[in-house]
Amino acid sequence: MSVIGVLTAGGDCPGLNAVIRGVVSRAHDTYGAEVVGIMNGWEGLMDGDARLLERRDVRGILVRGGTILGTSRKDPYVHGDGFASVSRTLESHDIDTLVVIGGDGTLRTALKLVDEGVKVIGVPKTIDNDIAATDFTFGFDTAVQIVTDAIDRLTTTAEAHDRVILVEVMGRTKGWIATYSGIAGGAEAILIPEVPFDLEEVAGIIRRRHRRGKDYSIVVVAEGVEPPIKTEKPKDAFGFERLGGVAYQLAPVIEELTGFETRVTVLGHLQRGGTPTAFDRVLATRLGTKAADLAAAGESGVMVAMRGAQIVPVPLAEACADIRGVDDDLFDVARTFFG
Ligand code: F6P
Repeated sequence: MSVIGVLTAGGDCPGLNAVIRGVVSRAHDTYGAEVVGIMNGWEGLMDGDARLLERRDVRGILVRGGTILGTSRKDPYVHGDGFASVSRTLESHDIDTLVVIGGDGTLRTALKLVDEGVKVIGVPKTIDNDIAATDFTFGFDTAVQIVTDAIDRLTTTAEAHDRVILVEVMGRTKGWIATYSGIAGGAEAILIPEVPFDLEEVAGIIRRRHRRGKDYSIVVVAEGVEPPIKTEKPKDAFGFERLGGVAYQLAPVIEELTGFETRVTVLGHLQRGGTPTAFDRVLATRLGTKAADLAAAGESGVMVAMRGAQIVPVPLAEACADIRGVDDDLFDVARTFFG
């Protein structure tokens, strides 16, 4: 009987439990394989913290946010002794293939393990939707829905008070959440890291709109945009930069340039919590079951990806080679509705 190990690493993301459930159910029911859950991402592999996952362990978790396995940003090559402790845990649990559910950093670590001879199947995870070689990542749709609901609510209060509201959303280096939610929520402007912007131009858009009789505006800001004043960002325990708050720097500048009261709402971790949307539940389930199929077939060095409407394996190296930004065509659609 083959044994599949599964771990979730990096920031959490709605749909992680649906992937785990997909792996465990398919492995047990279709292949009679065992699944070992590794606790707290790479940390569990480094410390030998792992346990058997039975079918009953994944009942009822489809709709739950977070991850039953826990997660962390520890990396064996940065915070541990590299491959040594990882290989000890893999051997002690007889793990044949590791299913690694994570973002770009986690997948790059997974690729290093492939080079060490470990069989690995990657599953792309991030609300940021910026992993290369896949059209969508699970969690993104949920985040976009949460932000869109927030924009709808902020729009009525902005209108009541004749205010400009800056809505700051997640997106470390790419502005997928900002662009999708900005289009869905009818934002007057969207600021993302990939597209340089001039605050005088943004103010001009707002002034023109308010002259035409609409005395309120919503501007969506991705957390990763260039701040007007560069300051050293605080780091977490793993050296990972903490973003968030750039809109507080932009708001007074916009208020000064437009003359309109400008307020800020930072949505932060709200975007990552709670139950996944139906789309994300289905995508995550398809990715998890496909990962188990590939593990059972003895595949390695691939990531399960959504290409068009299909779930297919793509080389892990391809997914790790780049970070995917918002395409020009999509941002052009958003720009059509500015002002
Ligand atoms: O990468 C996903 C993400 O949600 C980013 O959008 C955000 O910058 C980061 O994680 C926040 O991570 P943490 O919760 O560790 O601060």
